[in-house]
Amino acid sequence: MSTHPAVVTVGPGLPLEIHQISTPKPVGDQVRVRSEWTASTPLDLHQADGGLLVTPPLVLGDGVAGTVVEVGSEVTRLRVGDKVFGFTWRNQAEKAHQEFVVAPEFLFGKLPDGATMQQAVTLPNNFVTAWHTFIEHFGFELPWPKPEGYVSKEADEAILIWGGSSSVGQYAIQILKWYGYKNVIATASKQHHDKLRGYGAVKCFDYRDVSVIEEIKNYAHGRAPQPGIPYILDCIGSLAGSVRPIAKIAEPGSKVAVLLPVTVKDAAIGIKPEYSLVVEECADWQSGVEARGVRTHFYLDNKSLAENLQSEIMPTLLAEGVIEPNEQVIVEGQTLLERAEKALSMLRNKAVSGARLVWRLSDDNSL
Ligand SMILES: NC(=O)c1ccc[n+]([C@@H]2O[C@H](COP(=O)([O-])OP(=O)(O)OC[C@H]3O[C@@H](n4cnc5c(N)ncnc54)[C@H](OP(=O)(O)O)[C@@H]3O)[C@@H](O)[C@H]2O)c1
Repeated sequence: MSTHPAVVTVGPGLPLEIHQISTPKPVGDQVRVRSEWTASTPLDLHQADGGLLVTPPLVLGDGVAGTVVEVGSEVTRLRVGDKVFGFTWRNQAEKAHQEFVVAPEFLFGKLPDGATMQQAVTLPNNFVTAWHTFIEHFGFELPWPKPEGYVSKEADEAILIWGGSSSVGQYAIQILKWYGYKNVIATASKQHHDKLRGYGAVKCFDYRDVSVIEEIKNYAHGRAPQPGIPYILDCIGSLAGSVRPIAKIAEPGSKVAVLLPVTVKDAAIGIKPEYSLVVEECADWQSGVEARGVRTHFYLDNKSLAENLQSEIMPTLLAEGVIEPNEQVIVEGQTLLERAEKALSMLRNKAVSGARLVWRLSDDNSL
C-alpha cells in the first residue's frame, strides 16, 4: 500500500512529528486530493498544545486547497485535475496537514478562476463557521440562492461581532452585508477598523479601550430599547478577553454565540492551555440571555448546508467577489515539519493580526 507524509501531534505540548501514513483509495462519493496549500488555525494549537478532544497520534489541520487526483465510483461533480478547496476534518483521511486528503466531494468547492489556492484556503472552516452560526444559533434565514431584492427581517437589528478582525469575524461581517444586515458593529484593534467598515460594519470599537463596554452599550441604547444588541457573536472565545466583557453587554433577550472552546489560560512555551466547553458557566449571564457555544462540526446535520455550503455557496461568493479572502501570511520553511512547527509557534505567540497563516504541504516547490 502506498503511503504519504502527514503532520501529527503525538501529545499535548510535544514537538510535532511527520508520520508516513497509508494513502486510502477513494470509494463511493469520495475524492482524493493532493493537498497543495493549507492554513493553520487556532484549533491546531488547541489540539497540539492543549490536547483538546484529541486521542494522539492525530493528523492536524482542517482546511485544504489542492488538485483532485482520483475519484470514487459515485462521484458526479468533480473530475481528476479539478482545483478545489474545502473544510475537511472528520477522520484521519480527511485531516488537512498531509499530502493527500480523501473526503466526499460535497466537502469541496471548485477553485474559481482568478483565485489562488493561498487565498481560497483561508475560507473553508471559518466561512462555514460564520454561516452555520447565523442559521443555527441566531435563526437567520440566509436563503440560497438569494432572492432578488431580499430583505431579512432582522436587517435593522444590532449584531455585535466581537473580534471582527479574526478570520471568522471578517467572513461573518461580509456575509451579513450581502444579506442586507445594516446594523453590524464590531470590535477589533484600530488598524483594522477601515477594512471592517468596508466589509459592512457600521461602527467599530477598539476592544483594548478601557471604556469599550460602556461605549458599546451607549451606542446600542441610543438606537434601540432592551436588548440593545439582540445578537452577539464572540469570534474569540477568551474568558477574560471576550466572554466576560460580552456578559456585561448582553441583556435579557440577547442571543450570544461563543466559538468554542473558551480559552481560560493561553498556550505558551511550557504552559499547557486550559479550556472550558460550557459557555453557560463561564460568566454571570443575566437571566434571559441565551448564551451558547458554537461547534461548526455539527453543520452537516443541516442537509441543505451539507449539500450546498462548501460545494456551491462558498465558491460562488468567492468567485463573485462578495467575499474577500483573509489576507495571507505565508509561512516559509525548508521542510513540511519546519513549516508546521513555525505556524504553530506563530499561533502560540499571537503573531498574526487580521490575517491567516498559510503554507505549502509539499516540499516540491513546482507543485
Ligand atoms: N467551535 C468552532 O466550531 C470554531 C470554529 C472556528 C473557529 N473557532 C474558534 O474561534 C476562535 C477564532 O478563530 P479564528 O481562526 O477566526 O482566529 P484568528 O483569525 O486567528 O484570530 C486572531 C484575531 O483575534 C483578534 N483578537 C484576539 N484577542 C481578541 C479580543 N480579546 N477581542 C477581540 N479580538 C481579539 C486579533 O485581533 P486584532 O488583530 O484586531 O488585535 C486577531 O486579529 C478560535 O479560538 C477558534 O478555535 C471555533
